[in-house]
Amino acid sequence: MTSPVQIAPASGKLGVLLVGLGAVSTTTIAGVMAIRRGLARPIGSLTQMGTIRLGKRTEGRTPKIKDFVPLASLDDIVFGGWDIFEEDCYAAARTAGVLEPAQLEQVRSELEAVKPMPAVFDQRYVKRLDGPNVKKGKNKRDLAEQVIADIRAFKAKHGCDRMVMIWCGSTEVYMKETAVHATIDSFEKALEQSDDAIPSSMVYAYAALREGLPFANAAPNLTADIPAMLQLAAKMKSPIAGNDMKTGQTLIKTIIAPGLKARLLGVRGWYSTNILGNRDGEVLDDPESFKTKEESKKSALDYIFQPHLYPELYADLTHVVRINYYPPRGDNKEGWDNIDLIGWLGYPMQLKINFLCRDSILAAPIVLDSVLFLDLAKRAGMSGIQEWLSFYYKSPMHAPEVYPEHDLFIQLMKLKNTLRYLQGEDLITHLGREYYD
Ligand SMILES: NC(=O)c1ccc[n+]([C@@H]2O[C@H](COP(=O)([O-])OP(=O)(O)OC[C@H]3O[C@@H](n4cnc5c(N)ncnc54)[C@H](O)[C@@H]3O)[C@@H](O)[C@H]2O)c1
Repeated sequence: MTSPVQIAPASGKLGVLLVGLGAVSTTTIAGVMAIRRGLARPIGSLTQMGTIRLGKRTEGRTPKIKDFVPLASLDDIVFGGWDIFEEDCYAAARTAGVLEPAQLEQVRSELEAVKPMPAVFDQRYVKRLDGPNVKKGKNKRDLAEQVIADIRAFKAKHGCDRMVMIWCGSTEVYMKETAVHATIDSFEKALEQSDDAIPSSMVYAYAALREGLPFANAAPNLTADIPAMLQLAAKMKSPIAGNDMKTGQTLIKTIIAPGLKARLLGVRGWYSTNILGNRDGEVLDDPESFKTKEESKKSALDYIFQPHLYPELYADLTHVVRINYYPPRGDNKEGWDNIDLIGWLGYPMQLKINFLCRDSILAAPIVLDSVLFLDLAKRAGMSGIQEWLSFYYKSPMHAPEVYPEHDLFIQLMKLKNTLRYLQGEDLITHLGREYYD
């Protein structure tokens, strides 16, 4: 046992600002409202249902995570957000079509009270979208100051003690890091000049970090994953996490691939295709937004299989990812994976996976857990990249000198060991020799 880290109490209201009130956000918000009224269960949420083993297996200490670390209570969360559409959260949830109308009816008045603030939006970064609820400003710096004013006004209006911001907006076009993103100074100058290298998502992330808010990016955009933001996060003591929530096909990939590798089965090809009919699918139908998503989805296998260490097994892997926009399915995505394996003496085998999932049903618990764990991190004095939250993300943010950890089981161990460390409990190594000595 070591001494526990000092964590400020989770008392008072927690303001949760979601950028984009689309399928994922409205499913999260309506879900939390239903759960706290006892109308539904938080299935898929580690913070609400997960347990953590403490000490030796013989000790029988396995509390719920929410009883082990001081997380904010769902009752203390107040939701707000921005969107380019003027619909309130109830109407937006109806448009998204994820949750049943009867379920939304049960929390209707609470949902209607969540009205989107005017967004920072520029269609050049999300080509398939346009909407009326958009801020005007003389430059991007001015827009960032308006977002900061929104954060402060929301905090005062709802009497929040703490705030968290999550980008749940659409996937922006593919962008690479440039000199503009190198330092806080260069970034702020570029804001002033409305430089093209600053998409809308960066304006929000900058505003959040300037206010010392924890920030997470649920989409694959570059957003906060640039040196200027990391410097700002360190300066303002903001924890950050991302990028791109690990749901659907990539979740399954990071469950199956570590198993194949553990048994040293070779993989020659992994072909993944999806049909998806929600607004996210429509945005991803634009090749520039798809490129951002594709890059995010493709990296997981490379890191899990480590072809440089196992060239005979994985160096020739062909990995193809397709997303096809197919409106009849709405949010109910269907994914197919064909995996071409090689076993003993080089004999080929195949594995087929057909996942009929619900995208936002898988995403909502990630948004909730990210909010609660980032708020915990902030109160525990942890700032910058929270690698222990890699568990939730397709392209986990990581320090420049290390590779990202994609294996879901290592990620979970890292997450739980971080919680043990925070509370001064022994880390679990799974060595277990003491049971046999
Ligand atoms: N399982 C999942 O659903 C999943 C998984 C991983 C990542 N994501 C990512 O999360 C994001 C949200 O997914 P979704 O299904 O809710 O999409 P969605 O299209 O239903 O919602 C996105 C919302 O963001 C709004 N928006 C876009 N740009 C904005 C801006 N600059 N300011 C304010 N609002 C803005 C749009 O108007 C829309 O309402 C997408 O980028 C998606 O790729 C989703």
